[in-house]
Amino acid sequence: HELQLNLEQIEKGGYDHFMLKEIYEQPNAIRDTYRGRLLADQGIIKMAGVDDNIERIAKANRILIVGCGTSWHAGLVAEYAFEDMARIPVEVEYASEFRYRNPVITEDDVVIAISQSGETADTMAAIKLAKEKGAFVFGVCNVVGSSISRETTAGAYTHAGPEIGVASTKAFTTQITVLTLMALKLGKYKGTISDSDFRFHLQALEAIPQKIESLLKSDKIIKEIAETYKDTRNCIYLGRGYNFPVALEGALKLKEISYIHAEGYPAAEMKHGPIALIDEEMPVVVIAVRKGHYEKVVSNIQEIKSRKGKIISLVTEGDTEVKEIADHVIEIPETIESFTPLLTTIPLQLLSYHIAVMLGKNVDQPRNLAKSVTVE
Ligand code: G6P
Repeated sequence: HELQLNLEQIEKGGYDHFMLKEIYEQPNAIRDTYRGRLLADQGIIKMAGVDDNIERIAKANRILIVGCGTSWHAGLVAEYAFEDMARIPVEVEYASEFRYRNPVITEDDVVIAISQSGETADTMAAIKLAKEKGAFVFGVCNVVGSSISRETTAGAYTHAGPEIGVASTKAFTTQITVLTLMALKLGKYKGTISDSDFRFHLQALEAIPQKIESLLKSDKIIKEIAETYKDTRNCIYLGRGYNFPVALEGALKLKEISYIHAEGYPAAEMKHGPIALIDEEMPVVVIAVRKGHYEKVVSNIQEIKSRKGKIISLVTEGDTEVKEIADHVIEIPETIESFTPLLTTIPLQLLSYHIAVMLGKNVDQPRNLAKSVTVE
């Protein structure tokens, strides 16, 4: 037993939990994801699974993305990227809903299945259904040789390395990285993104790991915020555009490991319901980075403030406007709008982690949850 404990400590590499280790691994995990693919000097992206099928994917009538849990959230981020960069219509579906509808899929559709484990039963069933209908199915998996990676026609691995914590962290950011590389590559091929813009994106993507490294240094501030709100029973997360899915993912992380009720919403939808929940007891996490509807999000923050809600805001470095209104701010390094999810996700992971640890919860193995759900 003692030997086993020691082994686990070695595996955790000095961190208290696998989840924390995996949060800190993200800069290198993302480097591993784009290594050999992102060739900024040459101005190209090499991805064998995409290169071999570029015609088929670029000419797709639409792209249908399926996944569950955190992988579904990565799909939502990809929806923005594919439409924005490659001008291909995208729909994102929960695999469990997709498989039990009578979905309209044709041979001109491309289905992208996202799965960390590559073993999720609902995602596997969705792939089989899509294949039966003649769609081309592309897999984005982390586990090499997994069932989904074998069932799909082509694919790209995330190369995040093993993820042990049940709450997904580095799998999410590396899924976004792979999908963004795909969107950029297709945009270049189709001519929907200019050469200079393409190169600009490549350089900005290469700069992301270092920005995460500097972001991880704000851990102390995040710990203080966690200390302040650890006893809350509810929490709302708001974001817009590329950061709407990040709000969903932030709320999911808090639910999963701290058992605090949390909801993610697109910021503008707040007025259609969640605003009724806001009072002095309600913490609201607002992603208000300068790129992407900033002024609109600022007015949402003012609405929360006037109802006495507590505001924890993610802002771009150097921001002054939100700082004056919010109760707490976490600064995010500047980047291209489409890459902000790779940064804004990090503090939300840490916030959930610290709250769960402070509450004495089993961070790596939360109650009732499994790392991969191989049954319906
Ligand atoms: C489970 C895990 C989640 C994960 C989801 C999808 O619910 O607890 O962390 O996001 O399954 O898993 P997959 O392996 O398909 O990405």
